[in-house]
Amino acid sequence: MVKFQIKDQNMNIYTEAEEFQVRRKGILLAGGQGKRLAPLTNVISKQLMPVYDKPMIYYSLTTLMLCGIKDILIVSDPVNVDLYRQLLLDGKQWGINISYAIQEKPEGVAQSVLIGEDFIDSSPIAIALGDNIFHGNDLISLLRSADSLDKGSTIFAYAVRDPENYGVLKFDNSGSIVDIVEKPKKPPSAYAVTGLYFYDNTVIEKAKELVPSHRGELEITDINIKYLNDKLLNVEIMGRGIAWLDTGTIDALQEASQYIRTLENRQGLKVGSPEEIAWRQGWINDQQLEKLAINLSNSFYGEYLIKLLQFEIKDSFIN
Ligand code: DAU
Repeated sequence: MVKFQIKDQNMNIYTEAEEFQVRRKGILLAGGQGKRLAPLTNVISKQLMPVYDKPMIYYSLTTLMLCGIKDILIVSDPVNVDLYRQLLLDGKQWGINISYAIQEKPEGVAQSVLIGEDFIDSSPIAIALGDNIFHGNDLISLLRSADSLDKGSTIFAYAVRDPENYGVLKFDNSGSIVDIVEKPKKPPSAYAVTGLYFYDNTVIEKAKELVPSHRGELEITDINIKYLNDKLLNVEIMGRGIAWLDTGTIDALQEASQYIRTLENRQGLKVGSPEEIAWRQGWINDQQLEKLAINLSNSFYGEYLIKLLQFEIKDSFIN
């Protein structure tokens, strides 16, 4: 157990030195084909695409970091895995441990559990999809409560206009969840399951029982249904205060960039910066942040990191 001070993405101090459990590990999915973004993704992985001023993967990586997760396995395809390694290194620069694993073919999100079995070992895990972006004031409290559950799983649902493109919750008349349907032609509700999943260690045995779906994938939805059937699926609804941004189409990618641009330009604060979050978590100190900033000093991003150290912004948020 380690003590942390956590600031949310608007830099409000969320909590003072409460205890976070550091044992949960993270798996970050950065494979897949990204076909809907072709030709952008013809030669480069989707999760390396820019979302305004950062590679897409920074956002899901920092979501895991905001959970307090410090051991992260990046799962990507054989061609792109080295690009991720070049971009994210071993994580030590941000006070975390990043390792890498190859998914030979995009045979499903749930396959990452099998690929990562040795990495997971006896830990609970969080799985984050590298193309999902979360932002909002209540986010950290949701992540904290998911992290604090020792047994079972937590998934997050979000009302969307186009549920047919996602895993969708089905409720009975009393409002209990009775099923999750993957990409239903007739969605049973507007609540899509987002790409962030918290599981206890039984996820490994559940993944081993899976069979490929009609689209040839080991479906994460099938794992969630197993938890549901065991009455160990906790579903948190993300409300209006949280943005869950999709990056699946060219328009959605553009809109996500625009959203981040608007926030960052208005507030002068960045969303999804691993350097900043590592520093605010106390995982790197001022000198380490300065070194990272100097390496990026010809960019606006590097200037921002320098400003964090120089201005009141630091004093008001770090005690
Ligand atoms: O975004 C949330 C949705 O993610 C959920 O609502 C669905 O229940 C879940 O199945 C998943 O839906 P998609 O079918 O849209 O996932 P997609 O194939 O787009 O892959 C999601 C991410 O995972 C994407 O960044 C690519 C990566 N991926 C995907 C597959 C299938 C991999 O790294 N390897 C894979 O084998």
